[in-house]
Amino acid sequence: MNIIVTGGAGFIGCNFVYYELEKHPEDRIICLDKLTYAGNLKSLDEAMKSPSFRFVRGDICDRETVEKLFEEEHPDIVVNFAAESHVDRSVEDPGLFLRTNILGTQTLLDACRKYGIGRYHQVSTDEVYGDLPLDRPDLFFTEQTNIHTSSPYSASKAGADMLVLAYHRTFHVPVSITRCSNNYGPYHFPEKLIPLMITHALNDEKLPVYGNGENVRDWLYVEDHCAAIDLVMRRGREGEVYNVGGHNERTNLQVVKTVLKELNKPESLITFVKDRPGHDRRYAIDPSKIHSELGWLPATGFDEGMRRTVKWYLEHESWWKDILAGDYQDYYEHMYGNRGQA
Ligand code: NAD
Ligand code: DAU
Repeated sequence: MNIIVTGGAGFIGCNFVYYELEKHPEDRIICLDKLTYAGNLKSLDEAMKSPSFRFVRGDICDRETVEKLFEEEHPDIVVNFAAESHVDRSVEDPGLFLRTNILGTQTLLDACRKYGIGRYHQVSTDEVYGDLPLDRPDLFFTEQTNIHTSSPYSASKAGADMLVLAYHRTFHVPVSITRCSNNYGPYHFPEKLIPLMITHALNDEKLPVYGNGENVRDWLYVEDHCAAIDLVMRRGREGEVYNVGGHNERTNLQVVKTVLKELNKPESLITFVKDRPGHDRRYAIDPSKIHSELGWLPATGFDEGMRRTVKWYLEHESWWKDILAGDYQDYYEHMYGNRGQA
């Protein structure tokens, strides 16, 4: 099969490329990526050596580029990872998120409609469900939970999901959607919580925790997310949404302390800074549908996943140091420079 993976130079996308090349060597993977600040060709160094892999630089919003790729490759499956993915950036520039995340999705769906496709798979997020209260640990997001977004990022992802389902109902495009909780693991861009804390701790810099650090996220090792997407895009039912998560809820403060413990660094590095506007309190996924229909279960527990992740950052210093040395410095200064204490 020919599989187009959009956003394959980003965090989850590149992990997915490696997962597919290893698990399905009979398939061909074509990565379409614009290489925004979050896309990194270095993350695909090993994939580039494979004859089953092709990289194309291009924008999913560019109809001409997308149609040309469909004409060249006749894809059987399109998996869409390409997105603006950072909530804090969406507070700064919502328009970019609407363009990439909604109009980019529409462009891909139009191409699927025009040329035909075996499956269009949308990589979505648990953030489309909004958040849960901290004092109700009995509540979880199911596929029936109402869409109720908080940030321009989550609103744009929800808009894309609605469009995907509309193209299924109206035009019969064979689609599926996964909505996953927070991922962590290798190649995670250092603006996100876990890699930011690892790289700061390694540099003996302050660890900026938003608000009081009591917000809860449901963490999943990235390879488990890749396995879930692989199952759903090949065997999941058309027109269906599947929630993906591993019941690994932690407060941000617990996560940060785990990082410090793994690296043998002092908790005095923690600093509480001004909260994120609209900050979601708790995410928690009920993954029983994907488990009962497709047999998916996460293979990696949080402690093991964190050990592997920290080890990866220790062994790939040049990957993250190159990022920190570039434009990222301006971003960090802008977002954290005058932020003030919580
Ligand atoms: P990321 O920001 O690390 O990577 C995004 C990739 O998309 C980059 O390679 C970037 O260059 C590319 N891209 C951006 N705009 C593009 C465009 N217009 N055309 C082509 N390529 C473009 O993101 P990630 O964390 O790997 O997330 C991947 C997907 O998974 C996103 O759709 C995100 O919403 C979703 N998701 C992420 C998480 C998570 O915890 N990171 C959890 C659930 C769902
Ligand atoms: O739930 C899935 C989502 O997880 C994905 O859809 C998003 O693409 C992904 O970025 C992630 O969103 P979050 O906002 O949960 O991730 P982030 O790493 O930005 O923040 C995790 C938590 O840590 C959140 O409560 C905010 C907090 N935080 C984050 C940063 C960057 C801090 O306390 N300090 C920080 O410096």
